Amino acid sequence: ETIAWDPEDAAKSGYDHYMKKEIHEQPRAIRQCLRGRIAEPDGGITLEGLADLEPEGMVQFVACGTSSNAARYGARLLREHGIPTQTFLASEYTADAVPVDEETLVVGVTQSGETADTMRALREANGAGATTLALTNTVGSSAARECDHVCYIRAGPEIGVAATKTFVSQQVALALFTGALVGDSDPAFLEGLRELPELVQTVLDSSRAREVADAYVDADAYFFIGREYTAPVAFEGALKMKEITYKHAEGFAAGELKHGPLALVTENTPVFALLTAGSRLEKTLGNVKEVQTRGAPVIAVTDVPEEVGRYADHVLEIPSTHPQLTPILANVQLQLVSYWVANRLGRSIDKPRNLAKSVTVE
Ligand code: G6P
Repeated sequence: ETIAWDPEDAAKSGYDHYMKKEIHEQPRAIRQCLRGRIAEPDGGITLEGLADLEPEGMVQFVACGTSSNAARYGARLLREHGIPTQTFLASEYTADAVPVDEETLVVGVTQSGETADTMRALREANGAGATTLALTNTVGSSAARECDHVCYIRAGPEIGVAATKTFVSQQVALALFTGALVGDSDPAFLEGLRELPELVQTVLDSSRAREVADAYVDADAYFFIGREYTAPVAFEGALKMKEITYKHAEGFAAGELKHGPLALVTENTPVFALLTAGSRLEKTLGNVKEVQTRGAPVIAVTDVPEEVGRYADHVLEIPSTHPQLTPILANVQLQLVSYWVANRLGRSIDKPRNLAKSVTVE
């Protein structure tokens, strides 16, 4: 007698979807990304192959989709250390329209290393004499071959079309990259990086995202607001929601709400507010009050629940850590909310309609 088994089910190791499996693999992905890159005991960060990289001029990021949200996060980190940056959607980048010279470092953030828009941007940058760096998950990919330098994010294979663990690994690799460039040995930042796998595990083990998803599965639209370090996570939260639920979702820099989007806010548009200690919380709380006045439910994603809990209908708590690393934890909560909304709606979570894992046409 034999037991019928489906190789695909076996590959999902008991999870209903690859996406869920990959969300739960994030602590491991982060450990792999960190392995051997932070020296003990002095905490110096080294990324293999990047030791001689010392950008003299502008650091330009080019990327698409989820990777562009990671790029925005990385750019913010570098700027905080006084390194000038620009971020471009790769499809909008033209080396002749932005100043590019021998001193420019162009970083292509691309998990697949094959995205046509990103490849074109990197080729143009190379043609204009810039130094190029591929931040990628894929050894031997087109981006890895095209660029002068490569930094692998080491997330392992990702099957779900909607990027999850590769996004987290990009964020971690960009945090390491920043530390390597600035020779940063801020002990709190290094400690935060070291404990990150455990903190992500805490979020996975304690998340109440499923309850939130159940409460708002019938919403007309979902809005996400963040500020400074958490703005890229607001964009990513909305992108994930669109991709896998097919519902309208938008991410905004919290300060922009009043400049238009507020017209969309109703009692049927839940607002996910990223209210973390290091991202000018008081200002975002002001925006929260504006949406509440219009009747919108508010879900706070926060590391200071006792401070903000009373302003929110639901709280998705994250552990406290270095303020530059909280966006990584906040994002995990939003991944889970999207996953559970899509699950309730019976969507094709691993292969959303109309989307491809890697887009090789411009
Ligand atoms: C496709 C995928 C997205 C991804 C984007 C960029 O559109 O569906 O999930 O973020 O490509 O991919 P890359 O491989 O360049 O990171």
